[in-house]
Amino acid sequence: MPRTLDRREIIRLGGTALGLATVMPRRLLGRAPAVHTGSVKPAVVASRNGLRSRDTAGATCVEKAFALLTGESDPLDALLAGVNIVERDPEDSSVGYGGLPNADGVVQLDSCCMHGPKRRAGGVAALEGVRTPSLVAQAVADHTDHHLIVGDDAQRFARTMGFEIEDDLNTEKSRRLWLEWKRRSDPRHYPDPESRALAQHRAGLAMVAEGLIDPEHYYGTINCNGLSPRGELAGVTTTSGLAWKIPGRVGDSPILGAGLYVDAAVGAAGSTGRGEANLFHLASFLVVEEMRRGAAPKDAGLAALERVAANTVEKRLLNSRGLPAFGLSFYVLNAHGEHAGVSMYSSSYAVCTENGPEILPTEALYDGQSEG
Ligand code: GLY
Repeated sequence: MPRTLDRREIIRLGGTALGLATVMPRRLLGRAPAVHTGSVKPAVVASRNGLRSRDTAGATCVEKAFALLTGESDPLDALLAGVNIVERDPEDSSVGYGGLPNADGVVQLDSCCMHGPKRRAGGVAALEGVRTPSLVAQAVADHTDHHLIVGDDAQRFARTMGFEIEDDLNTEKSRRLWLEWKRRSDPRHYPDPESRALAQHRAGLAMVAEGLIDPEHYYGTINCNGLSPRGELAGVTTTSGLAWKIPGRVGDSPILGAGLYVDAAVGAAGSTGRGEANLFHLASFLVVEEMRRGAAPKDAGLAALERVAANTVEKRLLNSRGLPAFGLSFYVLNAHGEHAGVSMYSSSYAVCTENGPEILPTEALYDGQSEG
């Protein structure tokens, strides 16, 4: 029977790490051989929301993607069918329809995808009016010579490709939360830019602390990577980006090498969390390069997180322990089907293999919480 860890089990597993009571990064373990041998174990890995939203038949992202991937489907088509469930779900306020809007109350979406065997990639950024930006990213890969189209022109491109353009992707919930954030952050019409920025950041974090916003939806995203039984790798990342962002702000999600990287012979990695920290390091590329040099998925992911942590020096980005005050996670899959989720602080990720869907704990670089 497929097994899904319940919240208590996840906390218990995370608690094992907590018991170590250390703030030092975990040591990288022994390196696996760079050349993989043995059979391919098909798998789909995703951020935790890959095992939350359901389609009308009751399937989650990772289940749907795995079923298609292990059938006749093209590997990227399989993953896109999975993430489309999350993009279309009005309850997931981190992705697609109903994603938390920018500071002006407009939902702007980012996505990219990579097709391992075809060596094709596409992305869109700051796209408005299309619920499934991941499919527009695929259209960029399939119908153009380019890898990234942004803003109004991304919408124009989507229109020419036959996508339905909607006036507004807010749901009642996302609009209500934006109004609440506005009320809290702009009580006196922006006294000065610096205090406004501080007030906005604090208002957002307070809403997370009060449980109005899922902590994962503040920088919320879904990344989903898969390996077919035929050894084909693909990946997709899609997001509404940072909640209440400056209009036009683009994070890591649509950027090849940052929000996602797939190398057909080595593996795939993608991210959720603070996009700026990832963009500065092109960390998904780094994870895949670590695997190319022989690292196992977990060690490759931890190496990237260590790099991010080492370059996090600004006080505003550090917590009371002097550690990164933000969450960042990578979902890593190698060309064998070995996988790992890694995160700055304890978290979990979704997987589907021949054993069925599961939520597994990530390997955390640091114990405790981000305090972000
Ligand atoms: N990782 C999503 C974002 O920062 O936009």
